[in-house]
Amino acid sequence: MSALPEEYFKHETAIVEDGAEIGRGSKIWHHAHIRTGSKIGSDCNIGKNCYVDKGAVIGSRVKLQNNVSVWHGVKIEDEVFIGPGVTLTNDLYPRAFIWDDARVATTLIKKGASVGANSTILCGNRVIGEYAMVGAGSVVTKDVPPHGLVVGNPARLIGHVCKCGMTLKEKTTSGAYKCSSCGAEIRTDGSDSKPKMVYIASPVIGEKEQALVREVLQSGMLAQGPKVAAFEQKFAELCGAKFAVAVNSGTAALHCCNYALGIKPGDEVITVSFTFVATANSIIMQGARPVFVDVREDTFNIDPKKIEAAITPKTKAILAVDLYGQPADYDAIHKIAKKHNLKVIEDAAQSVFAEYKGKKAGNLTDIAGFSFYATKNLITGEGGMITTNNEEMAELCRRFRHHGQSEKTRYEYFDLGYNYRMTDLSAAIGLVQMERISELTEQRQKNAEIITSGLKNVKGIITPITPPGLVPVYHQYTVRVTKDYPMSRDQLAAYLKENGFGCGVYYPKPLHMHPHFINMGYKEGDFPVSERLAKEVLSLPVHPKLTRDELDKLIRLIKEAK
Ligand SMILES: Cc1ncc(COP(=O)(O)O)c(C=O)c1O
Repeated sequence: MSALPEEYFKHETAIVEDGAEIGRGSKIWHHAHIRTGSKIGSDCNIGKNCYVDKGAVIGSRVKLQNNVSVWHGVKIEDEVFIGPGVTLTNDLYPRAFIWDDARVATTLIKKGASVGANSTILCGNRVIGEYAMVGAGSVVTKDVPPHGLVVGNPARLIGHVCKCGMTLKEKTTSGAYKCSSCGAEIRTDGSDSKPKMVYIASPVIGEKEQALVREVLQSGMLAQGPKVAAFEQKFAELCGAKFAVAVNSGTAALHCCNYALGIKPGDEVITVSFTFVATANSIIMQGARPVFVDVREDTFNIDPKKIEAAITPKTKAILAVDLYGQPADYDAIHKIAKKHNLKVIEDAAQSVFAEYKGKKAGNLTDIAGFSFYATKNLITGEGGMITTNNEEMAELCRRFRHHGQSEKTRYEYFDLGYNYRMTDLSAAIGLVQMERISELTEQRQKNAEIITSGLKNVKGIITPITPPGLVPVYHQYTVRVTKDYPMSRDQLAAYLKENGFGCGVYYPKPLHMHPHFINMGYKEGDFPVSERLAKEVLSLPVHPKLTRDELDKLIRLIKEAK
């Protein structure tokens, strides 16, 4: 993103043409000339008499010492040092009387590399590898490997250098070099220079979970048993609900919710299209019709103002989703439900431990379904839970998860049911996870705060909002990438991935645009807010294992994208 002229320094003798992009904090010294269409990142130092050609690209924190010309076709990545008087070329067969861009060959100088004074880099689609070092006065005629040290004319590889600049001598048993100065281990194939990937989710499983799973394995009671019962009891307490019934997925939990409310063929259940497919499928599983309503663009959740228009005599319930871990607007939903005598289901798959006006998710509606899938805030691998304050509904769920049998009288089938039982192995993981959930949630909330304040004022990025009285748990931290941002949403996701940050798009196409909903009569254009959000949303890593450095880097990358 180009800074305003007052946000970088330009010596009065320097020329910066209109249309040149210069990042914040960069300094352009005496008689330097920066052409239109060139790009210079933030915090660079562009020395005296430097020339940056149209279309040349220079990353951030680059030092260009005096008298360096960077021609189009040359790309310099972040933190590169180019010594005084270095000659970079871009014409394969230079002739004063032939002017032909087709003969331009590129040079790429990768992150952290250094090129010593008065060296010449001959063009030829050449790469100077990450953290490589070109000795002063060299003439480079070939690619230089990552961390390679080259000298002479033509430049020869004479060794390798560390990131800190010292020559590498000692090798470890794994074949990497060990720097005698800073102690870093360096692989000269460049594999260590690739940024370590920060994933969108990173499950926190510790020794305690493993120990309890081992205990279950040793007990021989692998299926639903005492650990499931203990997990249910603790989970109900956590939510402040009277009953909790464990099942083997969030989808099963939502199916049970629909069953317990008596949803049947011919009924309609109001829900959203901007959600994971299991929300709406759980209604179809009971033979009923999901009736979609659009979402609010600021909270991503169901827009209560649009619910009443969707109610018909067949409507039995509203299934609201707490998308990304933020509860829906339950006061408004309950008001409508009461008026029309409808039940309310909470899809709390993403909102374990979230709060709405002092009450926890799972205790906000007639019945709620949670997911403990491997990337969720509380995990059991696969798993789910139903919570309710209604004893009869809890009993119906227990029956439904167990082929329609009451758990007291076996082989008496009261109704159709499924095998939705959770195993004690999963429950063991869940039990330990519950001990950490408060700490893990706080860490997510802190991370979210850091990202929100870091991205404040980034044009084109809309950070998530929290309505008063709500405590979101940031299952996802989701921004909107609008047309005012210099990259499209998908370009930003690709650029972050290239720089070591996995991101997610939840969800790229609203449900009403998928075949089995189109077959119900839905079509593109029916829910414009959901359709627009599907094009704009990007979820960034926010999980509890992120370090402050990683968060800062993520913020910096988004701020500096051009
Ligand atoms: C909103 C929502 N509902 C339901 C589910 C279904 O949960 P599960 O994958 O555990 O079946 C998920 C899971 O991703 C979800 O995000």
